[in-house]
Amino acid sequence: VHNKQNILHAPKQHKHPIELGFVQVGTESSWRAANSSSIKKAAQDFGIELKFKNANQSMENQIKAIRSFIRERVDVIAFSPVVQTGYEDVLREAKMAGIPVILTDRELGLKDDSLWLTSIGSDFQEEGRRAARWLLEQTKGVKKEINIVELQGTSGSSPAVYRKKGFEELLKNNSNYHIIASKSADFTKEAGRRVMKEYLKKYGDKIQVVYAHNDDMALGAIEAIEESGKNPGKDILIISVDATREALNALSAGKLNLTVECNPLLGPELMKAITDYVEGKEIPVKIITEEGIFSQENAKRDYLNRAY
Ligand code: AHR
Repeated sequence: VHNKQNILHAPKQHKHPIELGFVQVGTESSWRAANSSSIKKAAQDFGIELKFKNANQSMENQIKAIRSFIRERVDVIAFSPVVQTGYEDVLREAKMAGIPVILTDRELGLKDDSLWLTSIGSDFQEEGRRAARWLLEQTKGVKKEINIVELQGTSGSSPAVYRKKGFEELLKNNSNYHIIASKSADFTKEAGRRVMKEYLKKYGDKIQVVYAHNDDMALGAIEAIEESGKNPGKDILIISVDATREALNALSAGKLNLTVECNPLLGPELMKAITDYVEGKEIPVKIITEEGIFSQENAKRDYLNRAY
């Protein structure tokens, strides 16, 4: 635990109830829908007044929304950056105005970490490693070449950058694993389906594994594979990230092989950090959520209790 309040500014007088301006990435995935609901519900539970804006996957929209929250002089601003760069100026403006900023879910690639109070979310690189670890384990002893196609999330976003990095990190010492194609499908089901169709057309039977940076893209890819007459989960191994209810369903049906958990239910942690901040308590510089993996073996058992 390391306190950044002194670096940034001491908590000032705040409104009653506390006013939070939150800028969401968009509505690209079912993970995102669960994340938005969690934030709205937790704000109510904590008695925080939430001003919620949706940026429709655009960095420019997020910057505009943050500026409008600065003008309105909200007590705290929180957002999940669409991409890792481009926010420096607006964050400086927030700092000058004395409004603390909290990052949730996605992170920034900026050196000056005095521009935000704390960040709450997953370890995306570890998620990529978990995906690779499982693949290496499943294919242990296979001597022939293993060709992988990758469906990346939004270009320049921290989950896309680090899920790719973590996955490659573990595969690079195994010379028979090849990522033969890697393209962004923007975290959406439609784009996952479209890009997978292109991959199938270009590489056909060469493809043994799909690594999708989220479940929505994997579900789109599953549809494309079925349309091509192949069996997803059997002819081609499918690995993804998020562990949504729909993905657990696909695991139970044998169409998906693994989903690495990424927890969207960040609302309570965010509201707790805000409450602690205004009360002048110490808050950690980074709050990392604990996560696991779901394979076909445990999907059926966990499906019923899945909250998203
Ligand atoms: O930033 C988290 C990612 O964004 C989730 O994995 C994905 O589903 C969402 O769109």
